[in-house]
Amino acid sequence: MRHALSDRLSLSLSDRLALLFFCVTLLAVGAVYVYVAPGLQSRLTGQKLAALAGAARKRSAELRRALGTDTPARHVRELTREAANASGDRVTVLSVNRAVGAVQLSAVTDSTGQAPAALLGSSVARRAAVSGQLQTGVEQAPGGEVAMAALPARYGNATVGWVIVYSAALADVKRTVSTVRHEALVAGAIALALALLAGYAVARALARRVGRLEQAVRQVAGGDFSRRIPVDSGDELGRLAGAFNDMQQQLQQMDLARKKFIATASHELRTPVFSLGGFVELLEDEDLDPETRRRFLDQVRDQVQRLHKLSVDLLDLSRLESGSLELRPEEVDLGELTRSVSGEFEPALAQHDSRLELRLAGGPGAILAQCDPVRVAQIMRILIDNALTHTPKGTQIVVIARRQNGNVNLSVRDDGEGIDPVAQGRIFEPFYTADDAQGSGLGLAIASELADRMAGRLSVTSDAGATTFTLQIPG
Ligand SMILES: Nc1ncnc2c1ncn2[C@@H]1O[C@H](COP(=O)(O)OP(=O)(O)O)[C@@H](O)[C@H]1O
Ligand SMILES: [Mg+2]
Repeated sequence: MRHALSDRLSLSLSDRLALLFFCVTLLAVGAVYVYVAPGLQSRLTGQKLAALAGAARKRSAELRRALGTDTPARHVRELTREAANASGDRVTVLSVNRAVGAVQLSAVTDSTGQAPAALLGSSVARRAAVSGQLQTGVEQAPGGEVAMAALPARYGNATVGWVIVYSAALADVKRTVSTVRHEALVAGAIALALALLAGYAVARALARRVGRLEQAVRQVAGGDFSRRIPVDSGDELGRLAGAFNDMQQQLQQMDLARKKFIATASHELRTPVFSLGGFVELLEDEDLDPETRRRFLDQVRDQVQRLHKLSVDLLDLSRLESGSLELRPEEVDLGELTRSVSGEFEPALAQHDSRLELRLAGGPGAILAQCDPVRVAQIMRILIDNALTHTPKGTQIVVIARRQNGNVNLSVRDDGEGIDPVAQGRIFEPFYTADDAQGSGLGLAIASELADRMAGRLSVTSDAGATTFTLQIPG
């Protein structure tokens, strides 16, 4: 609803910006026209009135004195003309006659020599006669508006007998104001044109930069990560371009990782499938002796088991990465859980000439925590299995369960040959294997993702003769 108009006109960003520039300038010009010009007129008129009042005060002393005494009319006329010459205004002397209750004015003399007919009805002069004070004001005369200052003069100290009026036409004030108005209008028109042009230019430049971003986004959406947007400034758009480049780089890395994952996973699946195909062909031979046939069948069983484990692991990993694997936390006795998982490895331990020592701090029921028992057991199985598969025969394994700083730590330690520091940084990546033992390299990747999901952590410390994996979970 809010954008209905611009949507209907389908204005581009640059059109809108240019229009905005234009409207703001139009408002500014309008404000000058509506407020500044009339203000100027009243200020200029005020100045004119103040100048007239000043002249009346300053230049009338002699004339007032002359009026108060019986000075000949000729002399009064001369003084009036002198006052007019000195101030540059028209000076008129009116006499005040008081009829019953009303004040009437009549002309005595005027510096221009013309009859001051309009002044006889002047309310400014009348106010001065009545109040006995200097009065100023603007009045309408036949030739246009006139500013005037009226100064009363008295008989001695008695009543007001005359009013001396200084007046000047306001035509030049009007002319000045209308010139200013006209010039404001011309300047406004030029400013509007410039605003439209500048707005359009600025907006075009902005739109070009936004357009570049849009193009790059479309390219990334189409799977092309090669083009970086040049970061040409530190402003918001520049920062957006920077952020976009970062995002593009991350997407590229993720895309590479995904492709690598698929390639490795399909390779891992293909190897056992090929080998199975080979054995099936061999088993088709009718002349096989029972001993060889049994050996081949054992191999087939091994490969099927490997495939099964691989497919389960892949599924787990993909569920973990997509976040769709659900945990079912419950109150678990982790001492008991560790004991039972370790128990499962008895046959494997015997085969490997290894011994597993269990150290449970605090006795039965001492290590309780809220967690998913199935997933904790899965992690422990991965760790104990590694301590057996990636170590020489006869390795000793210690499984430790204890509480520390409000967490539960489950550790699996072996005295094997250790993991070299470079490999330590990579063993948690999917498909990474650091030795020749047959494994798909998914175990630790799954274990560490699971630990993350439980708000826990899986860490490793290793040097020759001691490798310890520790699962820390909140408890
Ligand atoms: N206890 C260990 N001792 C030595 N190396 C280990 C140990 N545990 C893991 N590793 C190394 O880490 C790699 C990754 O382990 P994992 O993810 O379980 O994959 P896999 O066991 O399938 O090879 C192993 O290939 C191995 O090189
Ligand atoms: Mg493993």
